[in-house]
Amino acid sequence: MTDRFYVTTPIYYVNDRPHIGHAYCTVLADAARRYQALCGRRTYFVTGTDEHGQKVEQAAHKRGIDPQTHVDELHAAFKNLWPELGCDPDQFIRTTEPRHKAVVQRALQQLWDAGLIVAREFEGWYSTAAERFWTEKELVDGKCPDTGLPVVRLKEKNYFFLMSRYQQRLIAAIERGLQPRLPMEQSADPEREVLEIVPPGRANEVLGFLRQPLQDLCISRPKERLKWGIELPFDNDYVTYVWFDALLNYVTAVGGLGADPPGAGNRAAPAQDGRTPFETWWPSVTHFLGKDILTTHAVYWPTMLMALGLPIPRRMLATGWWLIDDTKMSKSLGNVVSPLSLKDKYGSEVLRYFLLREMPVGQDANFSEEALVRRNNSDLANDLGNLVQRVIALCVKNFDGKVPPPPDRRPSAALGEAIAYGTWLVNGTLPLQGSGMAQPIVETALQFKLHRTLADTMQLVQHLNGVLTSDAPFKTVREDKDAAALTLYHVLEGIRFAAHLLSPALPVASLEILRRIGWAHGVKPLAGLRWGDLEGGQSVVEGPPLFPKFEWIAPAASAAAAAPGAGAGAGAGAGAGAGAGAGAGAGAGTGAEAAPAAPMLPDVDISVFSQADLRVGLVLSAEPIPKSKKLLKLQIDLGEGQPRQILSGIAETVAPADLLGKQVLVIANLPPRLMMGLESRGMLLVAADAEGKRVPLHPARAVPNGSGVN
Ligand code: MSP
Repeated sequence: MTDRFYVTTPIYYVNDRPHIGHAYCTVLADAARRYQALCGRRTYFVTGTDEHGQKVEQAAHKRGIDPQTHVDELHAAFKNLWPELGCDPDQFIRTTEPRHKAVVQRALQQLWDAGLIVAREFEGWYSTAAERFWTEKELVDGKCPDTGLPVVRLKEKNYFFLMSRYQQRLIAAIERGLQPRLPMEQSADPEREVLEIVPPGRANEVLGFLRQPLQDLCISRPKERLKWGIELPFDNDYVTYVWFDALLNYVTAVGGLGADPPGAGNRAAPAQDGRTPFETWWPSVTHFLGKDILTTHAVYWPTMLMALGLPIPRRMLATGWWLIDDTKMSKSLGNVVSPLSLKDKYGSEVLRYFLLREMPVGQDANFSEEALVRRNNSDLANDLGNLVQRVIALCVKNFDGKVPPPPDRRPSAALGEAIAYGTWLVNGTLPLQGSGMAQPIVETALQFKLHRTLADTMQLVQHLNGVLTSDAPFKTVREDKDAAALTLYHVLEGIRFAAHLLSPALPVASLEILRRIGWAHGVKPLAGLRWGDLEGGQSVVEGPPLFPKFEWIAPAASAAAAAPGAGAGAGAGAGAGAGAGAGAGAGAGTGAEAAPAAPMLPDVDISVFSQADLRVGLVLSAEPIPKSKKLLKLQIDLGEGQPRQILSGIAETVAPADLLGKQVLVIANLPPRLMMGLESRGMLLVAADAEGKRVPLHPARAVPNGSGVN
């Protein structure tokens, strides 16, 4: 088993705003990496953005700017998001970096020189949206199978990678990957190389696909159709297919194919044991990716590497999708959930825990904010947070605020079971009665079943709560202080174990828990974790609740509750404030209550109101207007095919970046107006804050762009 773990996420397309589906993959990779480190492995973690291709080119043209400026702006939405969600990648790679372009061109040249890329006259069905050709057979009802959009018949010269040559070798590698208990080392021998696809059901899907003859892969796009890509070094009338470029990022990131190290702000892959960084980290890699991009990863990528004479990736893990009402979340459906707004409302640790605990790795799961609130309240606030709070309070009250040294006595049956369970979870060695389906942490975490790892750890927390109830130290302390000391010491030890095991999901809260229970050494590798190492006499620290409870108010209920109060605009604002603010104890609710009541206007007939065409729109871009303190220039998607430019006087209350990817309410049938020399085609609905400044309104949950408002 190798002691190194290189983990990657897909590099995200910059033309999309990050949503909870993207956030999940990176949070999962981040937590998996932390578990590996906890189990003693050296780790390296890479994420980044995929910046070439037709969609990016088109998006830039729409904005009237060049693609490089566009991607320089947009990649930051991803790069800046990860630290907000507690993710700590070593490197953020961008495919427009010169060092990556050099790698892609080197790979292309090598394959061309070896005769593994050839020119062919080709005719097929081309999908602009999917940026690829399809065969007649692959079309679904004559449309692109990926996007469902129309395709066009195109005939042109293109360059093909002879992928079909590697079909049998790939099948053999994937079949080897289905064997249980494989060593993690990749073999340099093509006869023994392994591609493990997790979960195994997905490996069988790929094998099913590979039962059909494999086509060669078209890896070029004529520049007359697409300019925004990496030029073929042997024909400068063409750029390369965006996937050929994107997949190579995994090699560039660790210095393969002569890549330069990453720029400032990244931790370059360290070289170890006299090897180069690439030899150190490749191919002991695990690619995390969504099930929709498994074919590109499990078929294109290993065959490209085979042709380049490089080892194939050792493992890939395909995740399921986050769904909204059983439908995949996507920008085009306008049902995306923003990770940043959830983080702002509930905090990054709660969001991380929810994403990791709620979705069984590899399967789909429905997203709902209500489920997030429920998870927080039951697991984090009730079970874990209260446990820590209660034990510390007992130590403060009865043991001078110190960890009581454990007296030399036999623990109660319940306590004995909790100790055995906790030790077994970490060490996996003790025989255990009634452990149910739990597995030691090293097994579930190293197999990436992180939902199980968390569930099993929370079972330890529940055991400890049970011990507090059955051993009742708050009572025994009066007549048998040693009995209480014994219980409290071991419950604190259990908390120390749980905090270690939860630390990959809750990196900040775990450290805080350890600090509060008097453990000054931070999170230690599991191999060094021994029950009984917590020293008696250390001071415990009281503090505010670790995980405040939230009150869940369904959006419809909150709107209805607010409606009778202050008229439509103010009512919606107050409703949203109460929903968000109640549990969090944030200022939103209070602020809304303090606003002076605006005098009511005289009654009007409903027909007056219904003449205004009110719509929901998605903010695609937001920027300040030079020389204007109040105005922002917004591009808003109202589901009309083309975004609208709307100017709104909200610059004093909201930063442009905070509006990106959010839905707003718009009066869509006002005549165009010129402001500061710019045309505005519509008006944003806003509420006035206490100082009369404009605060934009947002729907309580995502609805399709262009939805009517009444
Ligand atoms: N740029 C390519 C990846 C190239 S990797 C060499 C790409 N980008 S993407 O931004 O469209 O998607 C990135 C990842 O987000 C994919 O793994 C995809 O499965 C994932 N998700 C997008 N929507 C998702 C959900 N609703 N739920 C979970 N993950 C989903 O593809």
